[in-house]
Amino acid sequence: PTIFVITPTYARLVQKAELTRLSQTFLHVPQLHWIVVEDSPHKTPLVTDLLMKSGLTYTHLHMPTAKDRKLQEGDPSWLKPRGVEQRNEGLRWLREDRRAQPGGDSQHGVVYFADDDNTYSLQIFEEMRSTQRVSVWPVGLVGGMKYERPVVEGGKVVRFHTGWRPSRPFPMDMAGFAVSLKLVLANPEACFDGDAPMGLLESSLLQGLVTIDELEPKADNCTKVLVWHTRTEKPKMKREEALQAQGLGSDPAVEV
Ligand code: UGA
Ligand code: MN
Repeated sequence: PTIFVITPTYARLVQKAELTRLSQTFLHVPQLHWIVVEDSPHKTPLVTDLLMKSGLTYTHLHMPTAKDRKLQEGDPSWLKPRGVEQRNEGLRWLREDRRAQPGGDSQHGVVYFADDDNTYSLQIFEEMRSTQRVSVWPVGLVGGMKYERPVVEGGKVVRFHTGWRPSRPFPMDMAGFAVSLKLVLANPEACFDGDAPMGLLESSLLQGLVTIDELEPKADNCTKVLVWHTRTEKPKMKREEALQAQGLGSDPAVEV
């Protein structure tokens, strides 16, 4: 089955570096279709060009986050959920496009939500490829922990190892699960709720799709960390700004 990877992304200094790293990981994964959704009122030349030269099978979409939902400069990063409208736009495209394909609603495929700043081992894609409904695995360096993971007993998920609100319906990071395409197509209304309280974004999608009992543990019964919730430091521009003030800033024609 093809793995459809939905990635929200937005313009900032590190965007090209993030997308370069991600695209070069994906080049090593067979049968991967990358759905890149820009948080922007239009497709940008930077992303358009990067995708064109990437060598990947991809779909390029855009969907701006409504202004009142967007984090403002200075807001703490947890204040509002990020990437919501973009992931939903990816789901919308996928449902529409798959309907038009032969096989309709009964196509094999896996849907994974891959943020542009995380680190993905190649093995996680082979683990998720056999997803029947929803598969799950540990995520490293997340939630103020070394890792979070579903706890597996007798081949079933019985609870979650997490440092924060374990009572959430699905206390997992976005990087820790994949959904079968069939399930996505069979539940045309399922999407992410941008109004979900903090920490409940993942649950807002999964609640309508699956029960804990049905989760399929991967990565050796959730004992291996194969994806990391890395976050990229915001580059300092102090020197750049000082030079700009003297008219000696970096050439804006050079794409970074
Ligand atoms: C954590 C989770 O890992 C995310 O999956 C979840 O969306 C997020 O929290 C949340 O609470 O909304 P975190 O590292 O804090 O992730 O979030 P980011 O990596 O900054 O953003 C998640 C994705 O949304 C990224 O792919 C990013 O490029 C994209 N994004 C971010 C936008 O499209 N627009 C923005 O304004 C910000
Ligand atoms: Mn992130």
